[in-house]
Amino acid sequence: MRLFIAVNFNDATRSRLLALRDELRSRSERGNFSLPENLHLTLAFLGECDAKQTAAVKSVMDAAVFEPFDVLIERAGRFKRDGGDVWWAGLRGSKPLSELQRELTNGLIAAGFALDKREYNPHITLGRKVMTETVPWQFEPFGETVTSIELMKSERINGKLTYTAIHGRNGVK
Ligand code: 2AM
Repeated sequence: MRLFIAVNFNDATRSRLLALRDELRSRSERGNFSLPENLHLTLAFLGECDAKQTAAVKSVMDAAVFEPFDVLIERAGRFKRDGGDVWWAGLRGSKPLSELQRELTNGLIAAGFALDKREYNPHITLGRKVMTETVPWQFEPFGETVTSIELMKSERINGKLTYTAIHGRNGVK
């Protein structure tokens, strides 16, 4: 199974993200734009996992202790790529978010996972292979209180990229 740990947003945040995605699309010549139900924030990408590894990821999540925390989405930016950029909605730096991401990453490394060594850049992908003349822009920030994280399974079902939550961990006050 191809897995990642993510924050999934409430309907209000999702519809704001969708409006951003649509704005990006209207500014672009072409691109593969994220499906509404696939808009999420990745905390850790695991890649292909067998049953034992999946159980290990669940244990790491169960051991993570965090309080609900606020996130703010405040800018649209890109990762430059040949053949079209990845465009995303970026989050304002947040200590609780960084701490949670670090706690998960440390737990996963201790459990034997080889994770991405690059600095964590919290973002929600709006589109890939995007060709546009537009430049990164800012907007009135919006956000919500994150109360849980989920382990997501990623698969193609009839050609459609589909994410399904298979485990969750709630923050505790
Ligand atoms: P991205 O949106 O910036 O591509 C599922 O693929 C999620 O895991 C996406 O949010 C993706 O981020 C993230 N991810 C992080 N590293 C990845 C990798 N090496 N391959 C695929 N997805 C990765």
